[in-house]
Amino acid sequence: ADLYGETRKNSAGLEFGSEAALNTLLDGMKAHDGTALVAKPIVAVTIDDGKPTPVLSPIDGRTVVGSVSSLSVDAVDGVMKAGQAAFRAWSATPAEDRANILDKMADLLEQNRDRLMSLLAREAGKTLADGLSEVREATDFCRYYAAEARRHFAAPIRMPGPTGERNELQYRGRGVFVAISPWNFPLAIFLGQVTAALAAGNVVVAKPAEQTPIIAFEAVRLLHQAGVPVAACQLATGDGKMGAALVSHPLTAGVAFTGSTETAWSINRALAARQGPIVPLIAETGGLNAMIVDATALPEQVTDDVVASAFRSAGQRCSALRILYLQDDVADRMLEMIEGAAAELTVGDPRQPATDLGPVIDAEAKANLDRHIALMRKSETVRFEGRAPNDGSYVAPVIIELREAATLDREVFGPILHVVRWKAGDLDKVIEQVAATGYGLTLGIHSRIDETVDAIVEKLAVGNVYVNRNVIGAVVGTQPFGGSGLSGTGPKAGGPNYLLRFAEEQVISVNT
Ligand code: SER
Repeated sequence: ADLYGETRKNSAGLEFGSEAALNTLLDGMKAHDGTALVAKPIVAVTIDDGKPTPVLSPIDGRTVVGSVSSLSVDAVDGVMKAGQAAFRAWSATPAEDRANILDKMADLLEQNRDRLMSLLAREAGKTLADGLSEVREATDFCRYYAAEARRHFAAPIRMPGPTGERNELQYRGRGVFVAISPWNFPLAIFLGQVTAALAAGNVVVAKPAEQTPIIAFEAVRLLHQAGVPVAACQLATGDGKMGAALVSHPLTAGVAFTGSTETAWSINRALAARQGPIVPLIAETGGLNAMIVDATALPEQVTDDVVASAFRSAGQRCSALRILYLQDDVADRMLEMIEGAAAELTVGDPRQPATDLGPVIDAEAKANLDRHIALMRKSETVRFEGRAPNDGSYVAPVIIELREAATLDREVFGPILHVVRWKAGDLDKVIEQVAATGYGLTLGIHSRIDETVDAIVEKLAVGNVYVNRNVIGAVVGTQPFGGSGLSGTGPKAGGPNYLLRFAEEQVISVNT
């Protein structure tokens, strides 16, 4: 089932529709299945990384993808000091050289695409379409930030001033950046944070999600192969306690974090409690993303866009649609079409070409989603439930009609779509309800009335607004991505202002 024409556009030079290309890709991926894989800290100091533990695949919850060992809290200090020792040389490396290394990394990602897709499927449960898009996005981040490094860091900006004086503004790296990334884009977001920090002249200590350390390990190995010195990009696999120790360390010069709003709050508190320099937190957090559909919208287009936005990647995107506001007059017809399309989705092994939804990330995530559905069943209407395998952590697409939007007050991270009806004339109430969540990540609008679209956009402070299309898959350099309010601090990833937040400014005034 190829509901997502986008894949074809985004494929890394591969015509996804062609059988020969698909077979080549599958063969390439299979060649990497079964390889014994490890993830362990890659750091510039000697450590005892303890006993490795197995990493289990969400495909069946049993197959061992590889093993991971961790950086202990005690080892954090040495790692941060090794990073600091490498900072001067890396920040003094000409921006052009740093950019060339990132371009080389982009080439390496493309050369390793099959291997990375195989890992993305096995460790993160990514379908072929999602794996391909993710390798593409990671590659785009490398090339985009390389170009941005050349634009901002290659030469100082000459400021106006009086005769006899030269005034120049230049950007420089801040020091050791701590990058904490999620499991839902274990390659693209991981590398997006790391390459931005490196491009801006920082050194990095990267802590990947506990669920996806092996992909991160492979990514850091490739970065080193591309030419980043080991101490300039260290990998700190481990748990939340170790992550907290990184954040609180006095040498931490900034934190890039993508994950839950709650964790962003605790990072903020830890940074505030720290003695020493006041440093930035760049946080990209959750969303309670809405799509507002009025009676002028095209039903077929709404159907495609709702299904992709709510269910693609098993709903495990921060951009994914959570609450669909349907105008009463068209709601029944649209729901019938959306449920019909959802019934066509195949849930199963992500390595099968026909699979639309792979598993959710682990048994705990599945249990949380199942609990939410059970709770909703008590008071709301579960209109649709798809089918999913019993093995592994699979969750079938579900559509729940809510009596009122306020029933859903937190992000539910999976293939669960909530629907609320609204009456003509009540658009302002809908806007108030969306604003009342406090989140502001993505927003969909389906309407052919310009005034309606303009009124919604004007009243809602949401980071990424998508009109008459789906709300996922922001393209690096084209749709800079990130939210406001409870959804994040900005600046937007893949946008023209991102690198600058990783840097500090210096002005040199010379009496000539
Ligand atoms: N950048 C991703 C997207 O746009 C975030 O989930 O879908």
